[in-house]
Amino acid sequence: MTEGGEFIRPIISSRREQQLMSNILITGGAGYIGSHVGKLLGRAGHRVVTLDNLSKGYAGAVLSGELVVGDTGDAALVSRLLARHAIDTVMHFAAWTIVPESLAQPLKYYQNNTSNARTLIECAVDAGVRQFIFSSTAAVYGSPSTSLCDENTATAPINPYGASKLMAEQMLRDACAASTMRHVILRYFNVAGSDPDGEIGQSTREATLLIKVACEAAVGARPGLAVFGTDYPTRDGTGVRDYIHVCDLAEAHRLGMEYLAAGGGSQTLNCGYGHGYSVREVLEMVGKISGRTLDITYGPRRAGDPPELVADSSRLQRVLDWRPQYANLQTIVETAYAWQCKLAEGRVVDGRAAS
Ligand code: UD1
Repeated sequence: MTEGGEFIRPIISSRREQQLMSNILITGGAGYIGSHVGKLLGRAGHRVVTLDNLSKGYAGAVLSGELVVGDTGDAALVSRLLARHAIDTVMHFAAWTIVPESLAQPLKYYQNNTSNARTLIECAVDAGVRQFIFSSTAAVYGSPSTSLCDENTATAPINPYGASKLMAEQMLRDACAASTMRHVILRYFNVAGSDPDGEIGQSTREATLLIKVACEAAVGARPGLAVFGTDYPTRDGTGVRDYIHVCDLAEAHRLGMEYLAAGGGSQTLNCGYGHGYSVREVLEMVGKISGRTLDITYGPRRAGDPPELVADSSRLQRVLDWRPQYANLQTIVETAYAWQCKLAEGRVVDGRAAS
């Protein structure tokens, strides 16, 4: 089946009934998104092995299976893991993800997000891995002229982060076309929120993402925050983004894997809710949930930021039968803020809530 073509959904439910379990390698599984996916997959009974160099992640956030500390660019290590654990599915999260940093240090981004992805893809093909789920980003669309982006919106990244991910997408498509491996590329919009059980969360040091930064300001972990740009052509002049709860995103990974296991063809899918919030709206919500008055300054635009990015995620809903559970800003901010409070109170040890 060609990607994005007329699609017939395989019978996922029969796959569920068979309870076939996968052996999954999660790269970057000690990080924010990977750790939430690892938790979900472990709970669903899959065998998970995490490969993470712990440069950003936390060993304690790996709740399922074994953690191997190492790099995705280490071909010998990756090949050994794929063989030893009879891996049928690779989920590749390990990447650098900070847009401003990618502008300052582009080659760092092309090394990790593109070159190391190439190594991983090659090892996966050579090992006969059948399924590859790739973490991509809305940043591949750059600054689109339409208010809603679907997967056919032209890709035109405006920062090296987006470009590094787009190149990896293309390598993966080409490698899959030339082998028996199939892929689901998930283009994340703005991921936020934390595990509603409160076991893990977004523990990222030196955070730059809006909701995380605002929650840090609310608990006093930083003095305040700046709004980057008030003159965008948006409803209130500040940037508009489609914030998706990390657990709904995790579920998209699980469904993507099941879809491929049931014989589905390769896909590229936007992950968002189809509704955007402005920076001002997000900050209002953080103020409301925390009951704190945030110290906000209004500054110039940040380089590399488009005015508005909102997902048309109808393909994700149609192809994977994805039904988001946490699709409102209040829940996203509540879970993000609850985790930030735990961090502030010293109730998180090595990325995991202390019991
Ligand atoms: C970017 C990527 C996104 C990626 C994410 C991962 C783009 C367009 N998007 O998200 O695909 O998944 O990084 O790191 O490249 N803001 C402030 N003050 C702050 C922080 C942010 O005003 O202190 C504003 C930004 O200008 C933007 C919005 O908040 O309008 C969201 O920014 P942020 O949370 O940093 O995420 P993106 O840059 O949108």
